[in-house]
Amino acid sequence: MKGVILAGGLATRLRPLTWVTNKHLLPVYNKPMIYYPILSLVKAGIKEILISSSPDHSGQFANLLKGGSELGAKLYYSVQENPKGGIANAIGMAKEFADNEKIAVVLGDNIFNYNLKPAVEKFVKKEKGAIVFGIRMSMMESKHYGVIEMDKTGKVVSIEEKPEEPKSDIAQAGIYFYDSRVFDFINKLRPSPRGELEVTDLNNFYLKEGTLECNLLDWWIDAGTSHDELLRANNLVAEKVHKGEL
Ligand code: DAU
Repeated sequence: MKGVILAGGLATRLRPLTWVTNKHLLPVYNKPMIYYPILSLVKAGIKEILISSSPDHSGQFANLLKGGSELGAKLYYSVQENPKGGIANAIGMAKEFADNEKIAVVLGDNIFNYNLKPAVEKFVKKEKGAIVFGIRMSMMESKHYGVIEMDKTGKVVSIEEKPEEPKSDIAQAGIYFYDSRVFDFINKLRPSPRGELEVTDLNNFYLKEGTLECNLLDWWIDAGTSHDELLRANNLVAEKVHKGEL
């Protein structure tokens, strides 16, 4: 299984911090934000990782991370020409890199300390399907994310992107495992009203064939949604590092 980290987008919500640099290079306590998803994949045994970023900043990622050996990874880089093409558009660019292997996709602004290794080991043995990862939060908060409804066995029953009226208290985190058919599904996607190829529409292909599962995380933060969340991420990560939990 190979890893794909998405670090594109325009990060308009974090301006002026992101006028001249990429959001995923901003500090979160003692490391640049992008270190956290890389280290999470490496901990799960996934060392070959593609970093997808926007045209303006791709060189900065290579300057910082180089070949990846300092983090225990073997890194590859790709440029998403349209930085607002959508998450599924960025995943689609990883087809050659994936080379028919399954992939684990992590959004570059997601920080968590859940150990993905058992899920990876189980998923590589599966014939087909996908896994999304969710986190419980209040319905008031969950509606700002993809919202997942699942049954008692962990099978996903519905996912809606930022619904007005969420059907559950489970928010979709930016961690997704896909089988090698993901690129065929992406080819079938059409842009959403906001002009993006949506990851939620992609996940709905798996849901419709009954092969989409959800695993729950214990702790997770999307550091890239606002200045307040970035500050909260810094404080939470500092606390976890001091306690030896991250
Ligand atoms: O963080 C979890 C949420 O991420 C999920 O709950 C949602 O279902 C999913 O759509 C996504 O929502 P966001 O509104 O937070 O997505 P955002 O536009 O902030 O992009 C998330 C990451 O993906 C960010 O690190 C940049 C990267 N990205 C985004 C787009 C739109 C790209 O690399 N390319 C893109 O075209």
